[in-house]
Amino acid sequence: MTEWVRIERIREHVGREVTLKGWLANRRSSGKIHFLQVRDGSGTLQCVMERKTVGDEPFARADTLPLESSVVVTGSVREDARSPMGCELSVTAFEVVAVAQDYPIGKKEHGTDFLMDHRHLWLRSRRQHAALRVRAEIVRAIRDHLDAQGFLLVDAPLLTPAACEGTSTLFETDYFGDKAYLSQSGQLYMEAAAMAFGRVYCFGPTFRAEKSKTRRHLTEFWMVEPEMAYVDLDGDMEIIEDLIVAVVARVLDRRREELKVLERDVSKLEAVRKPFPRMSYTDAVATLQAKGAAVSWGDDFGGDEETVLASVHEAPLMVHRYPADVKAFYMKRDPQDPRLALAVDVLAPEGYGEIVGGSQREDDLAALEAALDRHKLPRAAFEWYLDLRRYGSVPHSGFGIGIERTVAWICGLPHLRETIPFPRLLSRIYP
Ligand code: 4AD
Ligand code: MG
Repeated sequence: MTEWVRIERIREHVGREVTLKGWLANRRSSGKIHFLQVRDGSGTLQCVMERKTVGDEPFARADTLPLESSVVVTGSVREDARSPMGCELSVTAFEVVAVAQDYPIGKKEHGTDFLMDHRHLWLRSRRQHAALRVRAEIVRAIRDHLDAQGFLLVDAPLLTPAACEGTSTLFETDYFGDKAYLSQSGQLYMEAAAMAFGRVYCFGPTFRAEKSKTRRHLTEFWMVEPEMAYVDLDGDMEIIEDLIVAVVARVLDRRREELKVLERDVSKLEAVRKPFPRMSYTDAVATLQAKGAAVSWGDDFGGDEETVLASVHEAPLMVHRYPADVKAFYMKRDPQDPRLALAVDVLAPEGYGEIVGGSQREDDLAALEAALDRHKLPRAAFEWYLDLRRYGSVPHSGFGIGIERTVAWICGLPHLRETIPFPRLLSRIYP
């Protein structure tokens, strides 16, 4: 038996006979020789099959085998400078595991709806591979960075009794006769965990019944939410900045090939350096007004405003101190100007919008109680949260970084649907 090798490590086997297990991705033929592109998930390798080596029957079989049939190919690994993998396989044996039916995704241009209906198959294509590998690298980079900075991973629940990010985007479900909601954010639980462990983060799916059909909104998305005791808004912004710099550097270091497949202009990512520009909300309004935007103080920013503000910078723009009225109940008021919340939104360059939202949290019991009342939130569901202010309250801050928005920015993908394996959108829950 020859050794089963994955294509990503094929170079280590030059001169040896190995077995690949994968799928027939493409084929060219010159009569006496087939050039089979075999994909095994870790890469795609050209496998050269000659009639005189494998015999008539396997040769004929390979000639008509439908694309995406599953195959096991044995052969010797030959160095080849022209191949992207640095080598190719001279086939000695070829076995068909399952013959595929006519594969629906071909070379021709398909519409977005068609591709989304076939997302389970579309995942096999080169660009989708590249995007999802970058996604995995981003997730790993975030976790590595936070772990190295002394943050503890603490998992937040997904079934929750109350709203964190406003009541208008809650997915409601029945919980044995009571109402429960799919989590919009693990933050409130991270605040409890930060009082227990100092520096924590959760990483998981979050759910929002977003009624807006935009390229930047999913109804199910993944978020990493760090929370830190004894950190104020300035400290929060520094931690965000360090994290983003580390993530971009990691992807540039390890996923250049994928960025090339995605035709990403990497010079834009290489330009992302500390310190990131910081701008107060009030200055941002003035900047927008000077550019002729119809925005007044007190308005929240939409995607268009975010693009205008961020596109003049190379690094993400940190907009801080928003009007408290457009932000969540848990944010601390700015002692310098109580109309403001100690909030920060991080806007990616090149029009990719808000990738991070964070704030310093209200640590005063009476102020937090008043905020719950103002937002008409049910006190009973938040008693445990108020306890955190009753028993050793400290200044604390945190943020949430949206994985899909970050992937979209780093990969240069205009729509979030390609940043997650199986996107959930306003009008899509299939496949
Ligand atoms: O700004 P948001 O709503 O902040 C929170 O949820 C806080 N509780 C986070 C915290 O402080 N712990 O969301 C944070 C990020 C956004 O900046 C964005 O990147 C992403 O989550 N996000 C979405 N991504 C995709 N689809 C949606 N519908 C999203 N809503 C937010
Ligand atoms: Mg936000």
